[in-house]
Amino acid sequence: MAVSTTKRKYSLVGENTILALQRGLAEATWYTSPVPKEQLRELLERRDGPALRDTILWFALLIASGVSGYALWKAGSWWAVIPFMVYGAVYATSSDSRWHESGHGTAFKTDWMNNVLYEIASFMDMRESVPWRWSHVRHHSDTIIVGRDPEIVFPRPPDIRGLLLGFFSLRTIPLYFRHVLLHAAGRLTPEEKTYVPESEYGKTFLRARIYLLIYAAVIGLAIYQRSLLPLMFVGLPQLYGAWLLPIYAHPQHAGLAENVLDHRLNCRTVYMNGLNRFLYWNMNYHVEHHMFPLVPYHNLQRLHELVKADMPTPYRNLFEAWRELVPAVLRQVKDPSYYVERRLPTPTLSPEVPHGPRILTAKGRVVNGWLEVCVSGFLKPEDVVRFDHAGKTYAIYRTLDGRLYATDGLCTHAGAHLALGFVKGTLIECPKHNGRFDFTDGSPQRKPVCVALQTFPAKEHDGKIFLQLTPSGENREGLGRQGDAVSGPLKVAAAA
Ligand code: FES
Repeated sequence: MAVSTTKRKYSLVGENTILALQRGLAEATWYTSPVPKEQLRELLERRDGPALRDTILWFALLIASGVSGYALWKAGSWWAVIPFMVYGAVYATSSDSRWHESGHGTAFKTDWMNNVLYEIASFMDMRESVPWRWSHVRHHSDTIIVGRDPEIVFPRPPDIRGLLLGFFSLRTIPLYFRHVLLHAAGRLTPEEKTYVPESEYGKTFLRARIYLLIYAAVIGLAIYQRSLLPLMFVGLPQLYGAWLLPIYAHPQHAGLAENVLDHRLNCRTVYMNGLNRFLYWNMNYHVEHHMFPLVPYHNLQRLHELVKADMPTPYRNLFEAWRELVPAVLRQVKDPSYYVERRLPTPTLSPEVPHGPRILTAKGRVVNGWLEVCVSGFLKPEDVVRFDHAGKTYAIYRTLDGRLYATDGLCTHAGAHLALGFVKGTLIECPKHNGRFDFTDGSPQRKPVCVALQTFPAKEHDGKIFLQLTPSGENREGLGRQGDAVSGPLKVAAAA
């Protein structure tokens, strides 16, 4: 059988980028498994408890192994190898899942805790916190889309030598420092400029300079003490402790399909024991995470139970996943067109309405310029519905105390339907990249969203919800504030 040996081009500024855009593979709509709305709402609930417990335990492990390693090293004992093995793996491997979860803003309910953990874990994992945040946003938009995804670890044909060196970060460390130096000098690569917004350049340069200062201080201390010991705590763990990360992380996507808009075909879910899931913060449920990035890590196992009938068979353990990926990757060296085809189950529910019947259209009644949307009971407290009218999509929200608000239905970042997002207080969190808006005024509250949503007055009258199609702030005379109850009789006018 003839095989294709063509080397694919993964540049983010090359011909495949143009092709991906032309084929509609960039910022596209991806398949979502059906999950009953109420159950999904429960899973989206944020808590501080699980991540506080796991973070305290994580730091306790680092401190205990670090102190033991320090004491044994100072005593001149080779037994120091054992605690440093633990320290290195916990430092360099587990930091990866920590920046990841806190970067999504789903680890803690309290956002400053997410931000603190994100900065610390990114530094430990040798990821530059600012450009990496944006790189990961793109990875979620365009997962394994050639020419768009900056985080494809297994290009075709794969670089086997580079992959082996990766077990000791020997490929990533030089690349990392090259980028840090470039950023510290006030520059970005052309590829980075395709996903890092200009407003973030200053922060990127500042972080890079801070990183260099920290490394300079640690190296200075090592020279002063004439000892490698300070570097064993910062810097070198990436060399001697990162070996565990590829074991966990390579099964995520290696050997699977490129350029598909279904995470079930390009991600793996692999069962792991409790210890591995603690170290990896449940990222073994990788299909579920990509499909529902709003769900916190501590709920992924429950989410898996809800969607597993709609998923390819999960791998029983890491060994089973590696037993598939090693031959697949080796085969791709000779035949870059080869990939592992995951078998999808027969659909049992319509994928058109993934979270229940939430798409509303106009009922046809206009009352004093207000368009009837639905009966009041349809929109529960702290919830959102999608409303489509005249080719435009709106999102209508109800707060816990019953006030109504309405905004554009599509996220200003990459056009995801906000009605599939998560309402908490007066915030709507976008289902695609966890960006947040205050829906009372449309203002952006969490990156990657930077542009405000347009808002519209919404009202309740006579057991029905009505929407005013003139944006808030325009032609508002006599309408009252958004969120107010409508008073007085309304005159029913002609259908829209
Ligand atoms: Fe990216 Fe909404 S589409 S945050």
